[in-house]
Amino acid sequence: MKAFIFDLDGVIVSTDELHYEAWKQTADGEGIFFNREINERLRGVSRGESLEIILERAEKKYSQEEKAQLAESKNRIYRELLKKLTPADRLEGVTETLEQLRKRGYLLAIGSSSKNAPIILEKIGYKDYFDAISDGNNIKKSKPDPEVFLCAAKMLGLKPEECYVVEDAEAGICAALAGGFAPVGIGGAAKCDGITKGLGKFSDLLEL
Ligand code: BG6
Ligand code: MG
Repeated sequence: MKAFIFDLDGVIVSTDELHYEAWKQTADGEGIFFNREINERLRGVSRGESLEIILERAEKKYSQEEKAQLAESKNRIYRELLKKLTPADRLEGVTETLEQLRKRGYLLAIGSSSKNAPIILEKIGYKDYFDAISDGNNIKKSKPDPEVFLCAAKMLGLKPEECYVVEDAEAGICAALAGGFAPVGIGGAAKCDGITKGLGKFSDLLEL
């Protein structure tokens, strides 16, 4: 194996919590029931697809224009929350583990569905850290489609079977499997079917 491709939100940084907060405010504003269990289904999927999942509980039908406004409003709230992000929001063990993996000669990349990935990486002090960044800005299809990871592997000049994919989302594990990568699950994804390894904590990556 030559590289690790990391999901961003909920793997490298705690922005999964900020996504939840922003969607919760948006859903509450519309009087739509939303909780952490429903939020689990939003992990890894695009902004538009996340909104569709939330609207499953809505009592009225939303037009395309209304949906676009709601997605934009959620993103505005989210971007406000991102302003307070600092390197301290990197998740536990991330800084040291990435350094160790680098020392062992692995290439490190990001494979995230988020269009906000560049600003997040800048805020947490990782603007120029990764060898490749594939995110919501360079893909057409979101996870569980493998496109975002296939782009990352291509940027690294590697084949999928030479890369681990580290994910907290079921959609991300499915994407990795569909693309021929070796999926590693953390958090809720540590128990997904088909994973190469489930991590109790981020630094368990050093046991691979
Ligand atoms: C993923 C998150 O990383 O990015 C999803 O897990 C989110 O919850 C998706 O919907 C898109 O993010 P953004 O920042 O482009 O709205
Ligand atoms: Mg994630």
